[in-house]
Amino acid sequence: MIELRKIDSDNYEKVWKLKSLDSQKGYKDTVEEDFATAYLELLEGDHPPMFLAIYNGEEVVGYTLILYYELCEDNSHCEEFEILRKDFGDKAIYEFGSFMIDAKQQGKGLGNMAMAKIIEYIQSFPLGEANSVFLICKAENKVAEKLFTTHGFMDVGKQVFDDEKVMRLAL
Ligand SMILES: CC(C)(COP(=O)(O)OP(=O)(O)OC[C@H]1O[C@@H](n2cnc3c(N)ncnc32)[C@H](O)[C@@H]1OP(=O)(O)O)[C@@H](O)C(=O)NCCC(=O)NCCS
Repeated sequence: MIELRKIDSDNYEKVWKLKSLDSQKGYKDTVEEDFATAYLELLEGDHPPMFLAIYNGEEVVGYTLILYYELCEDNSHCEEFEILRKDFGDKAIYEFGSFMIDAKQQGKGLGNMAMAKIIEYIQSFPLGEANSVFLICKAENKVAEKLFTTHGFMDVGKQVFDDEKVMRLAL
């Protein structure tokens, strides 16, 4: 059974050891970068990050980093936020900052099951109400794009960088 648990002193070393395939390098930040992002968000962000380990039974098989933002002109330096604010009228959003399943565990349906759990969790508005969930997916990362599309994410039709897609799921 798939379960989400906070990354804390009991499990962070297991998360630290998770690896993507070599061919997936560049599709997401490294584990080290995600820990740094979570730390800085905790220190300086307006809302605490949701940094969650994905468990299959008692085994850590992946993790996700989810961030919450209220959109306003103050954070309009982020072009993706501007697209969501201006084109969709979003006032608050959840961002999938990171999502991965360990290389050895991929292709077994765990990504699909974890995504369903994460969306269900976000729909409970753990940090506040929001209009959408958004993420950025490398255009060549077809496996992830298909997975996100299966779960209702749609390409917003605008790109900030040529090699990336901005995807949105209305809540
Ligand atoms: C994207 C990722 C999370 C998918 O995890 P997973 O556990 O392999 O996903 P699943 O086994 O549930 O498979 C999801 C779908 O992708 C397909 N799939 C999985 N691996 C595949 C592969 N190597 N080639 C082709 N299709 C593949 C599955 O068949 C399934 O399709 P379906 O929904 O039609 O049945 C995983 O590949 C990963 O961690 N990638 C590296 C990090 C990354 O890219 N994160 C996203 C950043 S935007």
